[in-house]
Amino acid sequence: MTLAAATLSEHEPAPHQPVLLAEVMAALQPQQSLAGRFIDGTLGAGGHAMALLSAAPQARLLGIDRDPRSLAVARARLAAFAERVIFVHANFDQMAAVAAQHAFAPVDGILLDLGMASMHVDDSDRGFSFRAEAPLDMRYDPHSGAPSAADLINTLSAEALAELLYTYGEERESRRLARAIVAARPLYTARQLAELIERTLPRREKIHPATRTFQALRIAVNDELGALERVLPQTLALVRRGGRIAIISFHSLEDRIVKRFFARESADCLCPPKQPRCTCAHKAQLRLLTRKPITASQAEIAANPRSRSARLRVAERL
Ligand SMILES: C[S@@+](CC[C@H](N)C(=O)[O-])C[C@H]1O[C@@H](n2cnc3c(N)ncnc32)[C@H](O)[C@@H]1O
Repeated sequence: MTLAAATLSEHEPAPHQPVLLAEVMAALQPQQSLAGRFIDGTLGAGGHAMALLSAAPQARLLGIDRDPRSLAVARARLAAFAERVIFVHANFDQMAAVAAQHAFAPVDGILLDLGMASMHVDDSDRGFSFRAEAPLDMRYDPHSGAPSAADLINTLSAEALAELLYTYGEERESRRLARAIVAARPLYTARQLAELIERTLPRREKIHPATRTFQALRIAVNDELGALERVLPQTLALVRRGGRIAIISFHSLEDRIVKRFFARESADCLCPPKQPRCTCAHKAQLRLLTRKPITASQAEIAANPRSRSARLRVAERL
C-alpha cells in the first residue's frame, strides 16, 4: 500500500471514491472564490480536494489528515496541484492551531468527510476489516501512542466493553458479546474477533454480525466523536463571513453532533421556549443551508455503496 501510494497519480483509479462530490462542490462554491482558501480536514485520498482545486484554479488548500498513509496517497494524487496545497499530518481537532501556524485564515470553506476511507478497509494489515488476518490496531495514526483496538478488547472490563459496543456500535447484544470476548481473550487479530462474533451472535441481517463491533472499536480507538466535538467551534472562528462549512457523516452519532451544533449556532436565543424574555444573549453565527441532510442519489448508491449512509450538512457563516 505505501509503495503503491507513492506511485499513484491523479490519472489512476481512485483508491477511495469521494461521496456526494457534486453536492459538496455546490455547497463550497469554489468557483465563486477563484483565489479562495479552503481547509479539507479529512484529506483522505484527496478526491474532494482535487475537485475543489480543479474548479478554482487559483484556490489554495490546507489539507489535513491524521493518517500518514492517507496523507501519502493524497500527496501523490494531488502532485499536479502541490504548489497550492499545504499537507499537514494532524488530527483535525488541532485545526485552529494548524491554520494559525500556516497563516491560513480566514477561509472560504471547510470540509469534513468523516470516518475512514475505503483504503483503510483495503489495507489488509491495519485491522479495520474483519475479513483480514491482521493485528487489531485500527488507529488512523499508528504512532499516536493511543491504545489500539487489541488493547481495548484485551483490557476493558466486560461492563466497559458492553457500554462501548452499545454506545458506538448500537449493538443490541452488547452484554452477551462483551462476556464472550472476555472469556475468549486474549484476541490479537481482526479475524479472531470476527470469528468469535460469528459464533456468538445469530446472523439476522444482511450485514455481517461483526460490522457494529468493528465500527464501535474504530470510533473508540480514534476518539472520533471527541475530535468532532472539538473541531466544530474552531470552524466558526476560521470561516470568513459568507464562507461555508460542509460536513459529511456516516452514522447517526456523528450526524447528531453536527446537527445539534449547527442548530445551536444558527439560533439567536437558547433560552427555554416558555421563557418570556431572552436572558442568554446568544447570537446566531451560522445560517443553516440544509434543514434536512443531503443524501446520495440512487445512482450514486448503485455506483458506490459506501455513499448509502452519507449525510451532508452545510452552514454559512453570518
Ligand atoms: C472518508 S475519508 C476522506 C476521503 C476524502 N474526502 C476523499 O475524497 O478522498 C476520511 C479521512 O479522514 C481521516 N480522519 C479521520 N478522522 C480524522 C481526524 N480526527 N483528523 C484528521 N483526519 C482524520 C482518515 O484518516 C481518512 O483518511
